[in-house]
Amino acid sequence: MLLVQLIYVSSISNGFTEDDIAQIIDSAKRNNLSRDITGILCFNRKYFLQCLEGSRAKVNEIYHKILNDKRHDNIIMLEYREISQRDFVDWSMGYVGDTSINEATNKMYSVSSEFDPYKVSGESAFLLLKHLSKTVNVV
Ligand SMILES: Cc1cc2nc3c(=O)[nH]c(=O)nc-3n(C[C@H](O)[C@H](O)[C@H](O)COP(=O)(O)O)c2cc1C
Repeated sequence: MLLVQLIYVSSISNGFTEDDIAQIIDSAKRNNLSRDITGILCFNRKYFLQCLEGSRAKVNEIYHKILNDKRHDNIIMLEYREISQRDFVDWSMGYVGDTSINEATNKMYSVSSEFDPYKVSGESAFLLLKHLSKTVNVV
């Protein structure tokens, strides 16, 4: 089984509530743990930026569930690659909320100081996630 990493961006859909994010993190942790998937999820109350890593088949399985989730839309894959080691091995799904995503960080990886992952390359999205992983506050 090959080890892969997938990064995508998406937007909250209409009707998204505060409760939704807690439920998403709960099911992510439960499902990912049982599949040896690791990763990180960033959320600024408008956009999601997520990295999933693990076996190709299992990352694919979870990504299909995520694609069909009505709580978000405009899902764009930014990066998909085979990797030789994990970058987010400490978390079944580390969570970074908007208080950790500041203007200086956004400016470092994009052309703007706003968090808009639709405007970053796959490589910059990865580097942004690596940077933000230092501030994961829910393990
Ligand atoms: C932005 C976002 C990220 C998600 N990330 C994950 C994830 O990493 N793992 C996961 O199992 N489900 C994730 N989900 C939830 C799935 O879309 C789906 O609701 C869930 O896997 C269903 O779990 P269940 O079959 O155990 O009810 C995410 C949903 C959203 C909107």
